[in-house]
Amino acid sequence: MTYRDVYASWKSDPESFWMDAARSIGWVKPPTRALNDARAPLYEWFTDAEVNACWNAVDRHVEAGRGSQIAIIHDSPITHSTKGITYAELRDRVASLAGALRAKGIEKGDRVIIYMPMVPEALEAMLACARLGAIHSVVFGGFAANELAVRIDDATPKAIIAASCGLEPGRVVPYKPLLDAAIELATHKPDFCVILQREQQVAKLVEGRDVAWHSFQYGVEPAECVPVSGDHPAYVLYTSGTTGAPKGVVRPTAGHLVALNWSMQNFFNCGIGDVFWAASDVGWVVGHSYICYGPLIAGCTTIVFEGKPVGTPDAGTFWRVIQNHKVKTFFTAPTAFRAIKREDPNGELIKDYNLKSLKALYLAGERADPDTIMWAQRHLNVPVIDHWWQTETGWPIAGNPLGIEELPVKIGSPSVPMPGYDVQALDEGGHSVAPGTLGAIAIKLPLPPGTLSTLWHAEERFKKAYLSHFPGYYETGDAGYIDEDGYLYIMARTDDVINVAGHRLSTGAMEEVLASHRDVAECAVIGVADQLKGQMPLGFLCLNKGTNRPHEDVVKECVKLVRDQIGPVAAFKLACVVDRLPKTRSGKILRGTMVKIADGEAFKMPATIDDPAILDEIAVALKALGYPAR
Ligand code: COA
Ligand code: AMP
Repeated sequence: MTYRDVYASWKSDPESFWMDAARSIGWVKPPTRALNDARAPLYEWFTDAEVNACWNAVDRHVEAGRGSQIAIIHDSPITHSTKGITYAELRDRVASLAGALRAKGIEKGDRVIIYMPMVPEALEAMLACARLGAIHSVVFGGFAANELAVRIDDATPKAIIAASCGLEPGRVVPYKPLLDAAIELATHKPDFCVILQREQQVAKLVEGRDVAWHSFQYGVEPAECVPVSGDHPAYVLYTSGTTGAPKGVVRPTAGHLVALNWSMQNFFNCGIGDVFWAASDVGWVVGHSYICYGPLIAGCTTIVFEGKPVGTPDAGTFWRVIQNHKVKTFFTAPTAFRAIKREDPNGELIKDYNLKSLKALYLAGERADPDTIMWAQRHLNVPVIDHWWQTETGWPIAGNPLGIEELPVKIGSPSVPMPGYDVQALDEGGHSVAPGTLGAIAIKLPLPPGTLSTLWHAEERFKKAYLSHFPGYYETGDAGYIDEDGYLYIMARTDDVINVAGHRLSTGAMEEVLASHRDVAECAVIGVADQLKGQMPLGFLCLNKGTNRPHEDVVKECVKLVRDQIGPVAAFKLACVVDRLPKTRSGKILRGTMVKIADGEAFKMPATIDDPAILDEIAVALKALGYPAR
């Protein structure tokens, strides 16, 4: 079958398409129907089924006789170590951890926050929760205590599982003090915390609250897989949204299993025994879908990589991992390739390694620029697949489905929609625009299995943020166009989200932090183009009348404030003081115009601008910071 056939077969009968896909999953009680539209425009999938995600990712493979296959390879160039865990070992480790969690009162539906670096125990913690039907919420290690506290208060976890520390190149990041500070800041308090002690920095445990990863498992009965209903949340994953408060994306279990399994086979062309590597982090959706669940559900070997594309120790690390572990499919963000390209422009280091196992490279998380794609094509000599999706959707909305057929590549386009996604470019009135015309990218409801069903305890916010602007559609927040051949082009965001080194961040959240500085009267944060990271945040600060402190001091304090409140991942390092911000007559800050000035792009003077002279002041301030950089 061609891609066109597969897409058409979904479109003509979505119910049969997803029921067919569901047959590849191991059910406790199989579904009798796929879609449940009783609460439209809120949709659920496979609601009358019973299933367990951990069983499908782990036990099922052991029962099928593949217990001795490696399930997880941990490769850490930072600690100079590599180790493998078989499916049978993984089952035992996860059952033991789940048993210990159960003995301390964790049950189906309880939330458990996981705050861990790239160690296999992070996946084991996720799977142990899934085994019990507990809902995990993984928080990325680069977030500060305050962000963790916000998530603790929203998810109200009964337990938190954390490591004593994470490892960044050249520095140990002590997680435990961040965890303690977050619990102190949060209103909700977990019953207990499980701490994985790492030898690089052993943490002091709080008596009566903290237990050690190994000792709390001593003597407990291993836990069996607990069946959950199809719509039971597998996890909540927080992502940046249109305000400072993160959105808790809810992922129902059955759809998650069916869609990930479908995508592993049809999109990534991977199955039993293949080595699949997504060089991302468990704190992001890529980590959930394609480090943990997807490859394991499909019976692959997955790689947990604790390192960076460059500097651990050099720009050849990726090639070493691909060679040593015989990686078939490699997934990363374009920014990682830009970092490598900068250090090794001619790909000299690639020649030192044997990459014959590699069959395809997948890029996502941000727009893949043509230079990066062509560099990768030239040096790796495999298909380079740009694909587009979001935390909310959990699996690719659009891409080139190698497991079905390899479509012609159009550089700059993440190719075509996957079955399940009817993607449209809409005008302000919600009408589809002509091919090649820029519009808001929206997906006709219902979204397919594996996508979010709602936001955690925030159904109204879910409807308002995604479903209300274009009735009958899910609003992606991206703008772009669709060409005559149905290829998608994703050009920009329509909200305050920026993408820094493949990390999704909210400028609104940064503005909230800056506004809390005692000397700041008003502020704006924009995302400016950056050659390595795609975008970088840049802040404009208007100080309170009468503030006569040196501007450099205020800027320094503001940079520190964002790092302390949001975390190093925000990469907020650039700010300047200005007298006024450019606004429309109704008081809306003209952030888009400021971005254009910073990026050196032509712009039309907004008709509604209150005082055009302010733009000159902004240009002067930007010039002092070296913008436009080109
Ligand atoms: N724990 C603690 N701190 C972290 C962290 C973590 N898990 N991850 C990142 N940080 C810190 C970094 O150390 C850095 O700190 P610094 O300001 O002291 O240097 C800061 O957060 C910013 O990190 P990052 O934006 O990642 O920059 P970098 O200079 O460390 O690395 C790249 C740049 C391009 C090499 C890196 O961003 C990268 O590999 N990106 C790929 C991203 C990715 O996989 N995204 C997932 C979507 S597929
Ligand atoms: P996240 O939820 O962190 O995965 O970020 C999702 C957002 O990243 C999308 O809404 C896009 O703005 C951007 N994005 C992801 N993949 C791509 C891509 N292939 N091309 C362009 N933008 C992308």
